[in-house]
Amino acid sequence: MKSSLTGKHFLAINDFTREEIMLMLETTKQLKLETKRGQLVPYLPGKSLGMIFDQGSTRTRISFELGMQQLGGFSLYLKPGEIHLGVKESIYDTAKVLSRYHDAIMIRWNNYTELLEFAKHADVPVINAMTDVNHPCQALADIYTMMERFGDDLRGKNVTFFGDRTQPAHSLAMICSKLGINYTHCAPEKYQILPEWSDQFEANNKISGGIFKQTADIDEATNDAHCIYTDVWYWIGQEGEVDERKAAFAPYQVTMDIIKKCNKDVIFEHCLPAGRGVEVTDEVMDSRHSVIFDEAENRMHTEKAVLALIMS
Ligand code: CP
Repeated sequence: MKSSLTGKHFLAINDFTREEIMLMLETTKQLKLETKRGQLVPYLPGKSLGMIFDQGSTRTRISFELGMQQLGGFSLYLKPGEIHLGVKESIYDTAKVLSRYHDAIMIRWNNYTELLEFAKHADVPVINAMTDVNHPCQALADIYTMMERFGDDLRGKNVTFFGDRTQPAHSLAMICSKLGINYTHCAPEKYQILPEWSDQFEANNKISGGIFKQTADIDEATNDAHCIYTDVWYWIGQEGEVDERKAAFAPYQVTMDIIKKCNKDVIFEHCLPAGRGVEVTDEVMDSRHSVIFDEAENRMHTEKAVLALIMS
């Protein structure tokens, strides 16, 4: 599966053109179809993926690990605290050593700047499996799941994200701006997306035709929305802000009242894990609008596409 992406890092959505992102999504469709037919084509025979995690993971770990097996390769799970990276060994040395063992390295690391440094020194492709500021793998699965409901060309569709400016929010807004999808962030002003990110979305939108908006007004945010998305209200390092955040986001909990304000075909997405009864109600999570488990499954198909394209 040689392509223009062979040998490239996968660090941020903004590193790729619309055409390259569409190639990843089209490859996802092909690989998912083959998998559903029971055809596990070994696109990566004997190839090895190193998987470094500094935090736990359900979807990312399983989708990369099984994905590599299905592609004919194998992976090594380096669980939180298991290797010397960041403790007894420099980023440079670890990147050089792991590049001698693996054909690609996947990293979940809570510091994007350090991930970039690792990638600079690695001699094999590096995949960002979530940092403190972005989650590009998640964004690919989010958009692929939208494509399954609304068709391949999502230009002009309206995505609304409720809540904090989390890593999935940044990457989702970025992929929307690349593909001409309108993205609205709905949150109290204090938690809206900062200019260092929104300036990049605006620049992309000038080319793609997408629109980026932020508002605290729920009626404005839900008007003709095709996809409602939310994520957790607090994360690692925000333990001291829990009460303040709960109070600020309470009006933005995704309920059926919010879903009913949207386009009649609206879908509900969440990167998971979810705080059921916190940022979203059970009723929405389990409603006919919810595609959360398709989205979780699609993590594996999109990640297989990235692996096959950059490692072939
Ligand atoms: N959405 C996501 O990245 O899930 P995990 O933390 O379980 O990998």
